[in-house]
Amino acid sequence: MAPKETRAPSESLGPAYKPDIEKPIATVSTKVPHENVHVLSQTPQLIALLTMIRDRRTNRADFIFYSNRIIRLLIESGLNHLPTLPHEVMTPVGKTYAGVKFEGKICGVSIMRAGEAMEQGLRDCCRSVRIGKILIQRDEETSKPRLFYEKLPADVKDRWVLLLDPMLATGGSALMAVDVLLSKGVPEERILFLNLIASPEGAANFANKFPKLRVVTAFVDEGLDEKNYIVPGLGDFGDRFYTL
Ligand code: PRP
Ligand code: URA
Repeated sequence: MAPKETRAPSESLGPAYKPDIEKPIATVSTKVPHENVHVLSQTPQLIALLTMIRDRRTNRADFIFYSNRIIRLLIESGLNHLPTLPHEVMTPVGKTYAGVKFEGKICGVSIMRAGEAMEQGLRDCCRSVRIGKILIQRDEETSKPRLFYEKLPADVKDRWVLLLDPMLATGGSALMAVDVLLSKGVPEERILFLNLIASPEGAANFANKFPKLRVVTAFVDEGLDEKNYIVPGLGDFGDRFYTL
């Protein structure tokens, strides 16, 4: 468990025009000291969406809908880590605009099963993006990950890889997936791990083992329980998205 004092116990959320006294108090992400772990801005929208998916009473249809909205925010934020080149265009009124364009090839890699829930969000932003799969399952007794299968684009080592998994608990599964990518020749600094909820332990494991890899997460929670579930968390993401 992370020490309580690392967590912002409460923070008022709301638009600037409202006096502080009228803003709701909400629990926001634990602050982590790792340079390669980027936490989304703790906006009222994001906190409200996370509140929906954390609620045990939320049904599957709503869980999918609100998760997808957070996934979209994560993908858009993650794409900001990709390199761009200067790109000037002419507008319809005959003026030039000094802009940028994306550089380099990308692909998604989902950690099955829960990571597959993030594929559509990536496709919605990056048309016809290639997507590889790694099947890793956490043993329910020991929490240790087991690798069953991987199928990746043949040229994965030449691409930026957006690694997808909504839950980062002990970090075992995601670290194993990164090892697979490294064994295929993908440079560590070209991997972006996109994640909904991380534990401080998982975030620290990543930051220490792979300091050049970037993690983009919506929220760092309090810690892990005795079964290595994230707390307060949202339970089993895969079950709530696919089967419950
Ligand atoms: C979940 C989750 C991560 C992993 C996180 O998957 O989607 O892959 O556990 O735990 P860790 O950080 O301690 O490794 P799970 O193995 O339960 O399979 P699922 O995707 O089929 O639900
Ligand atoms: N996997 C999940 O889906 N949730 C957790 O809290 C931990 C692992």
